[in-house]
Amino acid sequence: MQTVVLAAGEGTRMRPLTARRPKPMLPVADRPLVGHTVAAAVEAGATSVVLVVGYGADDVRTHFGDGVDGVDVTYAVQSEQRGTADAVRTAAAHLEDGPFAVLNGDALYDVHSLTALYDTDAAVGSYRVDDPTNYGVLTTDGQTVTGVVEKPADPPSDLVNTGAYVFPTEAQSWLDVGESERGELELTDVLEHACREYDVQLVPFDRWLDVGRPWELLEANEWKLGESERDVRGDVAESAVLRGDVVVEDGATVEPGVVVEGPALIRAGASVGPNAYVRGATLVGEGAKVGHAVEVKNSVLMEGATVGHLSYVGDSVLGCDVNFGAGTTVANLRHDGADVRTTVKGQRVSTGRRKFGVVVGDGTKTGINASLNAGVVLSTDARVAPGEVVTRDR
Ligand code: TTP
Repeated sequence: MQTVVLAAGEGTRMRPLTARRPKPMLPVADRPLVGHTVAAAVEAGATSVVLVVGYGADDVRTHFGDGVDGVDVTYAVQSEQRGTADAVRTAAAHLEDGPFAVLNGDALYDVHSLTALYDTDAAVGSYRVDDPTNYGVLTTDGQTVTGVVEKPADPPSDLVNTGAYVFPTEAQSWLDVGESERGELELTDVLEHACREYDVQLVPFDRWLDVGRPWELLEANEWKLGESERDVRGDVAESAVLRGDVVVEDGATVEPGVVVEGPALIRAGASVGPNAYVRGATLVGEGAKVGHAVEVKNSVLMEGATVGHLSYVGDSVLGCDVNFGAGTTVANLRHDGADVRTTVKGQRVSTGRRKFGVVVGDGTKTGINASLNAGVVLSTDARVAPGEVVTRDR
């Protein structure tokens, strides 16, 4: 099945993490987010992949080159993000006759579900959620999809649109849709057209994760790190204890006195310890450093991030080359036990998580003994003074 993967989005809800890279290139375990989308598509039977790129296009091209596992990868450049129908229209010149699949490049799909999707001529992948009011919700008639309603106050079902579709060849000529109420050219209009002319099947997905906001990057890492199996190739001191599914890549170092509880991935060039404690779905990115007497829990440390001495980092995302001064401590729990709130596109929102720490843009540095409150967002290249207590974003 020829497959279009939409990866032109900037990911404004992920800021500041997307200030220097597009959202699909954010790290999830051993590869960028969109790397998992493409790998799942290829395993499910994609015969060719067209990546629609825009913001940060070069990063995506450099990562994939011209193929993945023997499957050709080509690129369609969407210069302006005018909507998902516009994105697919950009890719149309790369498509041959025959049905084609479309996937979101910022979502994780499981291979089994995609395989079932690819086994159809026209279909949508759907996922059951408890509260569908914030999603595109599918209307159905038995196993046939009849339409989609965006963010309904009174949802017609609990089946949400995963952004994974199979369209018939004709859909290539239906991509000139009008602007929606929010001013975008939407692929859901093309889906509705397909529903009028075809029997569009409902394919229930076992697992799906839309990665739009920073805590969903943690969830994506929880998913993919959870699938990894123990593999220790780096330089691990005899007195270090690695429990469970811990991956230490070639070229990584784990010093004496360290305890790592899997799932965890310590990437090439990273170093942990001495006497550090890493636990609970943590990614220590390439060249990152977790130093003496530092505890890191359920976090993502991007390339080159350094937490050098005597610090605690929990449920947090640290951008590239962040440097935490000695004794920097992150709060990840509210005393009233309520879900931690954070800022997404200028709005305070609930993360839906009782435990959530901080989101730190690339290049930010904290002074010694800085305290960072739960839910705080620090922008790219921010500075925190020694001893400062940070309760507001900056
Ligand atoms: P969104 O998550 O709606 O948009 P985004 O990735 O830009 O994120 P944000 O809302 O935080 O700014 O997009 C869904 C998918 O479609 C995603 O993979 C990006 C892709 N996309 C395009 O390729 N072109 C487009 O014009 C749009 C709107 C989205």
